[in-house]
Amino acid sequence: MQFCYNTTAKKFLMPATTFRAVVEHIDSLSYNVRGFHFKLIDPPKIEFKAGQFIIMNVPKDKAVVKRAYSIASPPHESTTLDLCIQKVDGGIASTYFWGLKEGQTVSISGPHGTFLLKEPMDYDPVFMATGTGVAPLRAMIKHLTRQNCTRDIWLLFGTRYEHSLLYESEFRMLANVRHNFHYIPTVSRPKEWHGEVGHLQQTFQKYITDHSNKEIYLCGWLEVVKAMCKDLESFGVPREKLHYEEWA
Ligand SMILES: Cc1cc2nc3c(=O)[nH]c(=O)nc-3n(C[C@H](O)[C@H](O)[C@H](O)COP(=O)(O)OP(=O)(O)OC[C@H]3O[C@@H](n4cnc5c(N)ncnc54)[C@H](O)[C@@H]3O)c2cc1C
Ligand SMILES: NC(=O)c1ccc[n+]([C@@H]2O[C@H](COP(=O)([O-])OP(=O)(O)OC[C@H]3O[C@@H](n4cnc5c(N)ncnc54)[C@H](OP(=O)(O)O)[C@@H]3O)[C@@H](O)[C@H]2O)c1
Repeated sequence: MQFCYNTTAKKFLMPATTFRAVVEHIDSLSYNVRGFHFKLIDPPKIEFKAGQFIIMNVPKDKAVVKRAYSIASPPHESTTLDLCIQKVDGGIASTYFWGLKEGQTVSISGPHGTFLLKEPMDYDPVFMATGTGVAPLRAMIKHLTRQNCTRDIWLLFGTRYEHSLLYESEFRMLANVRHNFHYIPTVSRPKEWHGEVGHLQQTFQKYITDHSNKEIYLCGWLEVVKAMCKDLESFGVPREKLHYEEWA
């Protein structure tokens, strides 16, 4: 059994287990992203930390292909898992997901990963996501709100089009009821959009004027996260305040 030592949590994380799970529902989150809600069957519960991911065991011909997916739901929802999957034309796992039907069972292993909230929470977290990179950050935000976190929580979320913003009504509603949750969606190729326009680095510069009491959590595709970290450092954000997960 292999344990994963996490330097932020300063403890051994739960070892990965293989689960059988059933697809409970599938939602359309945008024109090319679907939300998959799984109920765990065997074992019936998973213990994980917000920010971790699972591995989906995808049957392919007579073999199994493994792909990582961030858990989009919070740890207290321990009998179910939400995943948020982007369609990739010709992608092995993506094609498998798009063929799944409600009631079908899948094989998952987890939890994996060390992209976790730094503890103790003596800072204001700034979450920066592009596209499906919002998945682990949604888990963190839901975890913090469940814990009644009183720090200011920022979510800077960027997509190309306004219709690609994921969990849009959920985040807007949360921002309405929680005065300490600040949701700033940013669209780079707007059609009819009255919000922030451009890349998240610009949104960061506009809204996060004092980063001394903040920790920044970024997630998205490799090139985008790398570019955002480089720009944030050029704005004077110390490297040790940047926590990220890059998807390749
Ligand atoms: C830690 C971690 C967490 C992740 N979490 C998520 C998640 O929550 N949601 C999610 O959707 N993905 C996530 N990914 C990416 C995921 O693991 C797969 O890489 C992705 O779903 C593509 O797998 P596939 O088998 O469908 O495509 P593959 O068969 O592996 O790829 C087919 C081809 O398409 C290219 N490609 C892959 N993705 C895209 C794309 N979006 N657009 C254009 N070309 C592409 C590949 O480079 C390759 O050439 C995560 C990755 C990591 C490492
Ligand atoms: N594994 C892979 O290879 C992989 C996986 C996913 C996506 N992609 C590709 O990445 C592109 C975006 O896909 P998506 O569906 O994820 O888009 P998306 O969710 O709608 O949004 C990504 C956002 O990141 C922005 N961005 C791009 N470069 C950036 C940078 N250097 N710094 C800050 N922000 C940046 C984009 O702006 P712009 O309008 O300027 O692009 C866009 O607003 C597509 O071409 C897609 O095929 C590749």
